Amino acid sequence: MNLKRWIQDKIGIGENRDKLALLEKRIAALATLEQWALPEVLPIPQPLVERAWSDTLSTLDLPEAWGTSPKAIHRSDPMFRYPFQVHGGDALKVLSEYYGTGAEAAWRLQSVAPKVERILDFGGGYGRVGRFLSAAFPGAKRLVSDPKPSAVDFQIKHFGALSDDQQPVDLIFAGSVFTHLPEAEFKGTLRSLLGRLTRTGTLVLTLHEFQSQRFAFHPYTEESALRELEDVLSEDVYGSVYCSESFWRDTLSSVDGSWTYTILPERFGGTQAYLVVKAG
Ligand SMILES: C[S@@+](CC[C@H](N)C(=O)[O-])C[C@H]1O[C@@H](n2cnc3c(N)ncnc32)[C@H](O)[C@@H]1O
Repeated sequence: MNLKRWIQDKIGIGENRDKLALLEKRIAALATLEQWALPEVLPIPQPLVERAWSDTLSTLDLPEAWGTSPKAIHRSDPMFRYPFQVHGGDALKVLSEYYGTGAEAAWRLQSVAPKVERILDFGGGYGRVGRFLSAAFPGAKRLVSDPKPSAVDFQIKHFGALSDDQQPVDLIFAGSVFTHLPEAEFKGTLRSLLGRLTRTGTLVLTLHEFQSQRFAFHPYTEESALRELEDVLSEDVYGSVYCSESFWRDTLSSVDGSWTYTILPERFGGTQAYLVVKAG
């Protein structure tokens, strides 16, 4: 009997159950209080930022001019905050991955579509990639859209992006956006983005590796793990999405016009596939 109670307490279904629920609430309240006190740009110690930054530039062997890209990270950027939580506050590791993922994606976009005048960073969030777009495409107009007003404002204020004017664009990047949309939204968004492209335009989007199940939507994301952030999205409109290649092909072929896609050998953030979609 004692052993049974001991096991129950250990796994949180005995006496500890209420204590764990209380602790969870206490942490959530403290996280919200802490969030209120944070400045818009996270006050990350400069030496850490500089070290992660120079690691990124040298690992990717980027041109020197990329070094002047802006480094500021928004307090509510889940792309930084979630890995920071998962890695228990290992700032250097998380910063290096954050800057590395953004710079590598911008570099990839430049190699896919080197001559563009208007780019849309669709679902661009707080600019993990957006901060590098002026280095990758000097002279191009960089538009940003995102359901989070604080994210769009941040990219306009700190990275010189422009608010989306809904006019045609030569290149759209949707990095880790389709990996989150419910099925109807996935299909509708693909249709509307392809409708925005100029005749020779390119859409680059990322997806998880294809799986055998046609379409799966799970409600758990980085957003549901960080409810204290501002403009946080609800679980019915933003989940984790996995799909099969035949679902993807059928969805693409249901869009007006004729579209082809290629999959790059590289991976976005080390895991997601880049799909490059063009007319033809
Ligand atoms: C995983 S984050 C990626 C952000 C950014 N692209 C990056 O790589 O850092 C997904 C982004 O998609 C945005 N988003 C969610 N639903 C969207 C929708 N229906 N249309 C466009 N963007 C959406 C979110 O607000 C969030 O900023």
